[in-house]
Amino acid sequence: MRVPYSYLDRQFAEPDAILADIRELVRRGDYTLGAAVGEFEERYARMLGARHAIGVGSGTEALTLALQAVGVRPGDEVVTAPNTFIASVGAIVAAGARPVFVDVNAEHNIDAALIERAVTPRTRALMPVHLSGNPVDMAAIVEIAQRRRVPIVEDACQAFTAAIGGRAVGTFGEAAGFSLHPLKPLNVWGDAGMIVTDSDTLADHLRLRRNHGLRDRDTVEIFGVNSRLDTLQALVGLHLLDTTGAVTERRIGHARRLDAGLAPLAPHITVPPRRPGVRHAYLTYVVQAQDRDGLVRFLVERGVEAKVHYPVPVHLQPAAKDLGYKPGDFPVCERQAREIVTLPAHQHLTFDQLDYVVEQVTEFYSR
Ligand SMILES: Cc1ncc(COP(=O)(O)O)c(C=O)c1O
Repeated sequence: MRVPYSYLDRQFAEPDAILADIRELVRRGDYTLGAAVGEFEERYARMLGARHAIGVGSGTEALTLALQAVGVRPGDEVVTAPNTFIASVGAIVAAGARPVFVDVNAEHNIDAALIERAVTPRTRALMPVHLSGNPVDMAAIVEIAQRRRVPIVEDACQAFTAAIGGRAVGTFGEAAGFSLHPLKPLNVWGDAGMIVTDSDTLADHLRLRRNHGLRDRDTVEIFGVNSRLDTLQALVGLHLLDTTGAVTERRIGHARRLDAGLAPLAPHITVPPRRPGVRHAYLTYVVQAQDRDGLVRFLVERGVEAKVHYPVPVHLQPAAKDLGYKPGDFPVCERQAREIVTLPAHQHLTFDQLDYVVEQVTEFYSR
């Protein structure tokens, strides 16, 4: 049996409705900040329960612009987790700041109990990453942020539709960045991102900044950048908004089935703790595995496209060498990097395919 990791061919197997809208866009030539952008932003914000959504060129740019908008300047520090996708940290560096890492917990998210000791007078933002679509413990982080008077920019790039107690991830800090990349929960046909904020001031500033600082055609109010959400991608996004909730529910169902099937394989397999009251979006389904590399090879041979997100933590990447970190600095993260495995759990799989994954993992450890 084959259990593929990618589902894009299935998801967009019938693209005619989207293509019809794109054909109409080409007829009108409304490519840049067209009407669909405003409509998409408004519906995106409403869906999250936020006042504003500002469409930009990518999730990375959403984070960089949001960090700068809350006041991050060259030489400042931004606290984040070292097990994230490189873009979180790239966004901090692009804003001119120094990433300061904090180790993670058993849920593969930043350990809130360790954040306080990483905060210094130079800390200008906390950037929790809702990795895999699993909400970070935001109550603890909001408490620290308020007490230390440091803004929060949530990296919600992997976590559209995730929530804590019914409140959408991305609405807990001053601002949040979402990615609309093809491998993300709301996935358009190329690069795109969204910044979400409740602040009218931040939203106004970000709308200017993403479009060269132009208040109107001839008035440059501030120096900005070109990071606009394409009208074409907004059209694609509008087609997907209403489907994302059901997709997440399906993924949650699949994750529960895998959790139940894999739990008896402890200690070979460690299923991370599942926090009650939290809606994990399961962009990726990640567990820890003994002899991880052997398991991945075995699964791939048996047709199960297992992957690793991510095998080398950011603090140990060549790009990070000037930050001064070394192996052993974040023991939980480093151990997880050796053990984590991502199993296919997406919405287009069948229960038969999920059960086959469990059977193959079981067989690997019973040999
Ligand atoms: C955790 C995280 N942060 C940021 C990004 C950046 O998003 P994008 O690829 O849209 O720039 C991604 C995805 O690539 C991500 O997974």
